[in-house]
Amino acid sequence: MSNMQQIDSYTTLFGVIGDPIRHSKSPVMMNRAFRETGINGVYAAFHITTETLPDFIRGVRAMNIRGVNVTIPHKLNVMELLDRIDQGAAAIGAVNTIVNDNGILTGYNTDGIGYVRSLKEETFADLAGKTITVIGAGGACRGIVYTLLQEKPKKLTIVNRTAEKAEELAQSLSFYCPVGTELDASSTEELATLCTDADIVINTTSVGMHPHTGISPLDSLWLNPQATVSDLIYNPLQTELLRLAELRGCKTHNGLGMFIYQGAYAFEYWTGKSAPVQAMRETVMLSLSAQTSK
Ligand code: ATR
Repeated sequence: MSNMQQIDSYTTLFGVIGDPIRHSKSPVMMNRAFRETGINGVYAAFHITTETLPDFIRGVRAMNIRGVNVTIPHKLNVMELLDRIDQGAAAIGAVNTIVNDNGILTGYNTDGIGYVRSLKEETFADLAGKTITVIGAGGACRGIVYTLLQEKPKKLTIVNRTAEKAEELAQSLSFYCPVGTELDASSTEELATLCTDADIVINTTSVGMHPHTGISPLDSLWLNPQATVSDLIYNPLQTELLRLAELRGCKTHNGLGMFIYQGAYAFEYWTGKSAPVQAMRETVMLSLSAQTSK
């Protein structure tokens, strides 16, 4: 590519670690962001296991790798190997971004803020005073609920197949719930009513994800046609839930934006420059369509 920055002795190193990692779209997205902004950086994918994680972190210090994204299964385990944990990441209990300041490694979590920025920018939603129903209570849900609470919704209800997990999550995040916001937990028995009452319904479960694409976590007849429906899944880009919600007249939002913006925040923490979000999105879309046409 003609505008590709030459890799030379000044090139700054970045990467993503996970197990598995070869499916990751982060390298194409982040390298495009570096090219677009003229930053002399290169971003690679490292297949790191639980056993090699401590060695990898020593390598980050030794090689002065400036930034690392962390994905499954290291988001929790990596925390004890870092020097500092950002307040938000500590509250969420997971790190997805490491910033290396001359050997001082700080862990951040950009998943929740990435998701909320994407939701607000792509649906023009003002979340203050809104009623939000979040389906699921897993790892991805936690950062999202923590960040949504800071937007001061009127009410946020976590609904999960295993109701105890929803209760536990709501309990553990109640400390971060602002005055005037009601944080609740519920079983799926209440899902119909909770969908009907919601301004925003968010699916954080894996229901509808590739390869089990024909299923939805709820009946779209429960949805208020004025509501916004958001799905964290981006493979496929339009899940069964979003397809039915759109037919119902709802505004819809897929998980691609969360992926783009979690990367955008990481880019901004590492470089101090604003991320070229449009170019990043374009690159990921191209990469996804190349994959599905294979
Ligand atoms: P992640 O870290 O991606 O959030 P996770 O921690 O495994 O993944 O959580 C998956 C979430 O999807 C859970 O809330 C799970 O519900 P349970 O706690 O009851 O297991 C939910 N989930 C997965 N498959 C589901 C299904 N078929 N129906 C309803 N909920 C499902």
